[in-house]
Amino acid sequence: MPPIKRVSVLGAGLMGHGIAQVSAQTAGYEVTLLDVKQEFLDRGMTMIKDSLSKFVSKKTITKDDAESALARIHPTLDLKEAVAGSQLVIEASTEDPKLKLDLYRRVADYAGPETTLASNTSSISITLLGGATKNPANVVGMHFFNPPQLMPLIEITRGRRTSDSAVAVIKEAASAMKKETVLCKKDSPGFIVNRILVPALNEAAFLVDEGVADPEDIDKAIMLGLSWPMGPLKLLDYVGLDTTLNISQVFMQEFQDDKYRPSLLLRQMVRAGFLGRKSGKGFYEWPSPSTAKTTT
Ligand code: 3HC
Repeated sequence: MPPIKRVSVLGAGLMGHGIAQVSAQTAGYEVTLLDVKQEFLDRGMTMIKDSLSKFVSKKTITKDDAESALARIHPTLDLKEAVAGSQLVIEASTEDPKLKLDLYRRVADYAGPETTLASNTSSISITLLGGATKNPANVVGMHFFNPPQLMPLIEITRGRRTSDSAVAVIKEAASAMKKETVLCKKDSPGFIVNRILVPALNEAAFLVDEGVADPEDIDKAIMLGLSWPMGPLKLLDYVGLDTTLNISQVFMQEFQDDKYRPSLLLRQMVRAGFLGRKSGKGFYEWPSPSTAKTTT
């Protein structure tokens, strides 16, 4: 596979903007950032600028570093422009299997035979995504953690037909981004981290629904009892209730096991539009990304 110079990030949302930023800021790659609406791209670029200014104010990087990282990110609404000429495409679209499969089919029209197609999916089968392309050997899981700018891990997942060279490309990119990697040898839903995390987050929502404890006490218990940096309900808000619900549903379907059943409260909150930090309300109120008060 050719060395990576240009990376395409598909999706400028909660994860995509951070992945684009790390690719440009830490790895020094040229980056095209794609989304379906101008307002989504604008919001993604604003989040990148905010995050870069945090690093500048903490003197982690200089103002010049921030400006040149920003100049390496090229937002676009055009899939062909986003993908053509990139050695690595990182898909970070909504966690919806139909949407992702459609995107993979369309990406395959523009990606070269040696382009590695990585997915930031947290639960959807890499083998399934690979099946939608002309070169399933080039399709591989590259799962970042929120916020990608700070979290040091990338999970690499092999689909049934993923080649060793695609895995090597992700290891090369992760090293350039200064991230640690773990390899998930089998294409198993939720890989390693979400297989453990998502049932725990769901169980915290069950505790609220059953009236066992208030959200603040559940979060306090896990932070002080298990040394998590954030309690499970705040983390649910942080990751997104809709994303967590989607992952639980994929687990139910793929494992055919009722033990992954999402709580009714989680389902109802998503229906009500209480998605967490991104919608301003979840288990907590989020008037701005850095402040949170409980709502339940
Ligand atoms: N860019 C740059 N800097 C950032 C930032 C960003 N996007 N977000 C936060 N920071 C900085 C802040 O400026 C602050 O800097 P300071 O300490 O010098 O003041 C520092 O990080 C800490 O931020 P906050 O004070 O706002 O809040 P916290 O102390 O709670 O830290 C956190 C935030 C780093 C996110 C920490 O709470 C944490 O590690 N939480 C757990 C996150 C986690 O578990 N992520 C994984 C979720 S699972 C997942 O993503 C998988 C998916 O598939 C579901």
